Amino acid sequence: MDKFLIEGGKKLNGKVKVSGAKNASLALMPAAILNSGVNTLENTPEVNDVYTMIKLLNNLGIKSEFGGHKLILDTTEITSQVAPYEHVKKMRASIYVLGPLLSKFGYAKVSMPGGCAWGPRPINLHLEAMKKLGAEIELDAGYIIAKAEKLHGARIHFDVSSVGATGNTLMAASLAKGNTIITNAAVEPEITLLADYLVKMGAKINGIGSNCIEIEGVEQLYPADETNICDRIEAGTLIIAGSITGSTISIEFPEIKTLSAVFSKLEDSGLKLNYSNNLITLDASGLDINSVDVTTAIYPGFPTDMQAQWIAYMALAKGTSTVTDTIYHDRFSHVPELIRLGADIEVINNSAIVKGVKQLRGAKVMSTDLRASASLVLAGMAAEGTTEILRIYHLDRGYERIEEKLKALGASIERVKTTEF
Ligand code: EPU
Repeated sequence: MDKFLIEGGKKLNGKVKVSGAKNASLALMPAAILNSGVNTLENTPEVNDVYTMIKLLNNLGIKSEFGGHKLILDTTEITSQVAPYEHVKKMRASIYVLGPLLSKFGYAKVSMPGGCAWGPRPINLHLEAMKKLGAEIELDAGYIIAKAEKLHGARIHFDVSSVGATGNTLMAASLAKGNTIITNAAVEPEITLLADYLVKMGAKINGIGSNCIEIEGVEQLYPADETNICDRIEAGTLIIAGSITGSTISIEFPEIKTLSAVFSKLEDSGLKLNYSNNLITLDASGLDINSVDVTTAIYPGFPTDMQAQWIAYMALAKGTSTVTDTIYHDRFSHVPELIRLGADIEVINNSAIVKGVKQLRGAKVMSTDLRASASLVLAGMAAEGTTEILRIYHLDRGYERIEEKLKALGASIERVKTTEF
């Protein structure tokens, strides 16, 4: 087990490159199940969730090679349609294999993901969509067993916009017989990229990037290559790292417009941002952070995956801000840990009321999930003294060697082995 030791108060300087988007990779990789042959996925981040997905795909018979951010998936021989509990329990995104396996083989047995660190995360929309496409679904001994001779097109309206359910339905409908229309589809950039990749495989999809997507099912899909987008949440986290430490840094991130909601709020906080080509430069020297309210929303709104980092930032703002999560109402496990660092935060229903303090102070804290861990790293970098963060395996699921990137910018952050849990 590893932990981080952070010596706070160091100013950052220099340039940092954002890695490939974890959540896009986790959708692209299972999409390859739909074809038979060699697929190359460039700019795949070297993070533990990607390694978990590789293991899951290997378990299905898919061969892989991964290095230098290039992932090769050979789907010529898929020998199993079962996603076992041991993989799915580590990562909810494993549910993404359901649609492609069912659509290609007429059968999929996928362990149910169960709860997550911040409460229930249902999969009803995935299952209802598969049923609409003609699948019979049975739940047995913790597994979803889905069967269909041949999926058929359907009209699918999601009452709640869901990234995962849209992705699964897109993949399943691409090989179904007939036309499918998805309304209230997710418009997140990761889903747009998935649809683009499916089109490269030969899928017929209209309305990509909109919340009304039409898919004309085809008989067969073919191997294809795709280049991943960069991770907008990592980009946002790094910008807050610069801002919370009063630094001047540049961030290489090509998909600037995908993070507009966050940039706008950062500018409201008083941060000076300069955008040119693929580079964002921020100047937070002498910044006296304004408190700024935030409400998370589906894309292009303020992402729930930036909520924890925003709370850490607001903990040092002047005045009081309200941070509301409308996507995951219970996603506040970072708050008690931030309070250990001296933050003044109260959670009421799905809002955190953050009263800015002048200074945070280092303490021992614990990671509880991926973005919660990121918020603790940010707070630790701004705090006076040493912050010790336990259970950073959560962070390793989705950030590629974040401590190396932050160290290269001048942060004092060490990864150390520990037996403490
Ligand atoms: N929902 C349902 N039923 C479903 C599916 C979702 O009610 O069957 C609800 C959820 O409870 C939530 C809302 O719909 O309130 C949106 O959830 P969504 O399905 O969009 O989330 P997801 O696909 O499970 C992805 C990301 C998450 C990110 C959310 C929201 C991946 C692998 N995960 O999850 O990323 O928070 O979208 O943007 O793409 C992270 O990276 O830290 C992370 C948790």
